[in-house]
Amino acid sequence: MDARRNGPRDDAPQARPNKVSRRAMSFYVTTPIYYVNAQPHLGHAYTTIACDVLARHMRQRGEDVFFLTGTDEHGEPVADAAAAQGMEPQALADLNAEKFKALAPQLDASNDFFIRTTDEEHKRRVQDVLQRVHDNGYTYKGVYEGWYCPRCADFKVENEILEGNRCPIHEIVLERHQEENWFFQLSAFQERLEQLYADQPDFVMPKHHYNEARSFIASGLQDISLSRKRLKWGVTVPWDPEHVFYVWFDALLNYYTALGYARPGEDLTDRFWPATYHVIGKDILKFHTVFWPAMLMAAELAVPEHVFVHGFLLGADGRKMSKSLGNVLDPFEVMDEYGTDALRFYLMRDVAFGSDGSVGIDAVRARYEAELANEYGNLASRTIAMIHRYRDGVVPSALTDGELAREFEALPAEVSVVLDRAEPTRALDLIWERVRRLNRYVEERAPWQLARDPEQADRLDETLASLAEGLRAVSVLLHPYVPDSVEKLLLALGTPDVAYERALFAERGSGLPVQSLEPLFPKR
Ligand code: MSP
Repeated sequence: MDARRNGPRDDAPQARPNKVSRRAMSFYVTTPIYYVNAQPHLGHAYTTIACDVLARHMRQRGEDVFFLTGTDEHGEPVADAAAAQGMEPQALADLNAEKFKALAPQLDASNDFFIRTTDEEHKRRVQDVLQRVHDNGYTYKGVYEGWYCPRCADFKVENEILEGNRCPIHEIVLERHQEENWFFQLSAFQERLEQLYADQPDFVMPKHHYNEARSFIASGLQDISLSRKRLKWGVTVPWDPEHVFYVWFDALLNYYTALGYARPGEDLTDRFWPATYHVIGKDILKFHTVFWPAMLMAAELAVPEHVFVHGFLLGADGRKMSKSLGNVLDPFEVMDEYGTDALRFYLMRDVAFGSDGSVGIDAVRARYEAELANEYGNLASRTIAMIHRYRDGVVPSALTDGELAREFEALPAEVSVVLDRAEPTRALDLIWERVRRLNRYVEERAPWQLARDPEQADRLDETLASLAEGLRAVSVLLHPYVPDSVEKLLLALGTPDVAYERALFAERGSGLPVQSLEPLFPKR
């Protein structure tokens, strides 16, 4: 499990004093893989953007990063959706996988690979791992009888079924199914899972989801079905080819299989396994925090360091987003109107990562205008304009304001500690406090008044040098959130490097000419 820890690079920023057991130098982050029977929507964009912020930040720190996303293509929901449209499941999967694959670059997500569970390489590796689970004696054949929802591809337990035998999620009438299945002996892992939770108090984050998973385990684990006999659309069970694996087993294994073939001719497993963070929505908690570690134990593979569970995005009215309620926020509309950076910023800023939160276009507009345009964009424009107006477009080679510098000193470390715990909203709060500090500094120093008095020339030099430096330093930390805007600004300042050590408030920009800058967040 620890084979690949080769220690920090000499020039890398030094260790993070946090309690989370972060590995020295490799960071593997994953999104859930998305079902191809639906179109990409805001919920998918949300998880992908959050993972991207973490991945970009860790790359800034010189860590060896792998960021994975992709699509979940097997199972009954896809087979049924394809049948309803008169298509082969593979054709429907191909069509919709393309849309998810295109979503990542639209969001400016920097994923290192995009996995599709219909990839031959994935299927072969799923068979290898589950064959090992079988050989290790954790499977058996049995008869499963229960209430089944074809839309969820899941059997429902008695106490969650709605009146009239209806699905609690889809409200459709459930089907009574009796099936000969292969079972996975989840119950055999009761004690080992309890031990895992006792040993790794950060295994599931935030804490309330850790508690939820732990009490699910404590209530007693029952074996779960591992295969489907009636279904053809899936990965064939190698020891019983009349069956395909239950889609969740095939899907969860994507996190492992991808490392084996993402880079042709290279196996990344030793370098990145196990994942640092699986980031998921709370709807799929049980699968990731109970089934998944048990399955890995059964296959003798290392379990992930953390599963981070984020909340749900709700409509502006606080209800679940749905077309019929007219409260859906469309990520593509937001990007068309305000740009990709605005969508990224809004989602990371307005909904505390880990909690549920309402989102809506009015709130997007408010954040865009008040924060991106007026606070950050305006600070950037003013700073650059004043350097042009008062100092011929060159950042004065003066020392920066020592007091201001002290207020920025701790910021890079504070941000990285918080991002080590996968809290992008909290980190953005810390960064934004400094953006606001710089705006206050402009008002306090009133450079336009200093410019009128030749005796104040040194103070004006110090002010402009400090503003340029503060803006530059804070922008380095903002880069993972709004990469495109930060790149434009840093280019204009003549300091394009976004490595983490550049987030220190120093004398980086002194004496450099600045370029002109179009408004980063123009009025809409
Ligand atoms: N295919 C499974 C996951 C398999 S992972 C091995 C699946 N797919 S899904 O397309 O339904 O995507 C679910 C994920 O999308 C959630 O876990 C969450 O990350 C994201 N979201 C979908 N709707 C969401 C909201 N309304 N709010 C926040 N995130 C949501 O489940």
